[in-house]
Amino acid sequence: MNAGIIGIGRYLPEKILTNFDLELMVETSDEWIRTRTGIEERRIAADDVNTSDMAYGAAKKALENANVSPEDLDLILVATVTPDQPFPSVSCMLQEKLGALKSAAMDLSAACAGFMYGMVTAGQFIQNGTYKNILIVGVEKLSKITDWNDRNTAVLFGDGAGAVVMGPVSEGKGILSFELGADGSGGKHLYQKDQYLSMNGREVFKFAVRQMGESSLNVLEKAGLKKEDVDLLVPHQANIRIMEASRERLELPPEKMTKTVHKYGNTSAASIPIAIVEELEAGRIKDGDLLVMVGFGGGLTWGAIALRWGR
Ligand code: UT7
Repeated sequence: MNAGIIGIGRYLPEKILTNFDLELMVETSDEWIRTRTGIEERRIAADDVNTSDMAYGAAKKALENANVSPEDLDLILVATVTPDQPFPSVSCMLQEKLGALKSAAMDLSAACAGFMYGMVTAGQFIQNGTYKNILIVGVEKLSKITDWNDRNTAVLFGDGAGAVVMGPVSEGKGILSFELGADGSGGKHLYQKDQYLSMNGREVFKFAVRQMGESSLNVLEKAGLKKEDVDLLVPHQANIRIMEASRERLELPPEKMTKTVHKYGNTSAASIPIAIVEELEAGRIKDGDLLVMVGFGGGLTWGAIALRWGR
């Protein structure tokens, strides 16, 4: 049984925080942020909108898009490092909000690589025939763990949610290969201490540039495919310079890489599904296209998937 994406949706808060707004909050400039990260603005969730609310917004759209009713879900996986509270999990809260009465539910913690971990995990249940319909949500309210006085991190992140429904798809479609990895020794470079997120940007940057390229090439090799077979590279939207480095490793032209980082900043586990929705809405993904998705994050963690689009 092949496992693929059968529906997708996203939720983005309305409030926009621009680089110019940030200039009034910390010692930074629009010019610095744009040239070092590619980010121009990001979305920030309202105080009364929590992680589970954003997850619900994206999940509802993904279910509608898949034409799957919540009662037919077998499992809900939510990738997040900013849950509403330690427990119950966001996935259990979501199960209740959706009325997905027959579904199992659990959260998954792999930071910005969480969506890759979620899709691969779901893929295993589908491929072995245990489950049919699985909802995977990548969602973050990073604004609540951001120190708004720390210019090293305050300029980078945004809030949002992306969701897919995965299910059995026809031969040759869906997940063709994947790679997941972790290096706990790098945990000290990106972590949450007490209330706030803390980061050694330069170390994370070096790791990301190396790992994004390696993992993308590895999934292509595992699937018996070549760089020129790739129709769309969907990298985790952390920093345009990191994304460009992976694109160059794959020798792809600029139009074959998704870019939303300028509008939404780094939305962590949500960034890959949000970016795919954007491409679909613009009509840039067609049936049979080869997508390479690749993410990295705190842990350190990483993950990549080669996927043939379509049911
Ligand atoms: O999902 C994973 C999450 N994390 C990441 O993706 C982060 C990966 N790292 C990066 O994206 C980059 O390392 C940054 C964008 C964070 C920083 O870019 P950089 O080119 O590596 O800059 P840098 O760390 O070498 O810093 C250059 C200077 C420093 O000043 P000094 O020490 O040279 O005097 C920083 O203090 O820029 C300063 N700086 C800022 N200046 C203005 C750091 N943040 C800011 C800021 N505005 N917001």
